[in-house]
Amino acid sequence: MKNVLIAYMSYFGNSRKCAGLFSEDLKSRGLETQLVSIKDNEEYSEEWDTLVIFSPVRMGRIVGKTRKFIRSLNGSGKNFALVISHGADLDQRFSPVKPTKKLQTSMTVKGMIEAVDPTYIKVVSSEGPPVEGFEDTLRELADSLVNFLK
Ligand SMILES: Cc1cc2nc3c(=O)[nH]c(=O)nc-3n(C[C@H](O)[C@H](O)[C@H](O)COP(=O)(O)O)c2cc1C
Repeated sequence: MKNVLIAYMSYFGNSRKCAGLFSEDLKSRGLETQLVSIKDNEEYSEEWDTLVIFSPVRMGRIVGKTRKFIRSLNGSGKNFALVISHGADLDQRFSPVKPTKKLQTSMTVKGMIEAVDPTYIKVVSSEGPPVEGFEDTLRELADSLVNFLK
């Protein structure tokens, strides 16, 4: 059975909430998941074959704790997907797109395989909540990921 490691970094709870909903959705589709908080250094089994990262962007960068977590991974040959929460529009200064591309590159350089294009979850203000319709966005991501893993 596929084992999906869902690792989240979150200051105001938006990424945590999305990661929790996503984990439940995957479980209801018959996948095994491990939901871990990066900030709390939670332990996980190395049995995973797919990693889904939920992380905010701050000051035009993916937050440092997320980047550090990824540096510490031994993920060669394993799949990944990124879910980035952000406040700025995608075409604005401080857009999450460039920092997300940097993170993608650092993961592919490690030999990881991107399963699905990055998902962007906009928050209404810095503290959230996520904009209307984010649950649908997460369901679509789950559809795409399950399809990729078939
Ligand atoms: C100090 C600070 C800097 C931020 N910088 C950015 C930024 O550069 N680009 C952006 O799109 N959003 C930025 N935001 C909004 C965060 O992305 C938003 O707070 C985050 O997605 C919320 O997720 P969380 O509840 O999981 O922490 C910033 C927020 C804070 C508090």
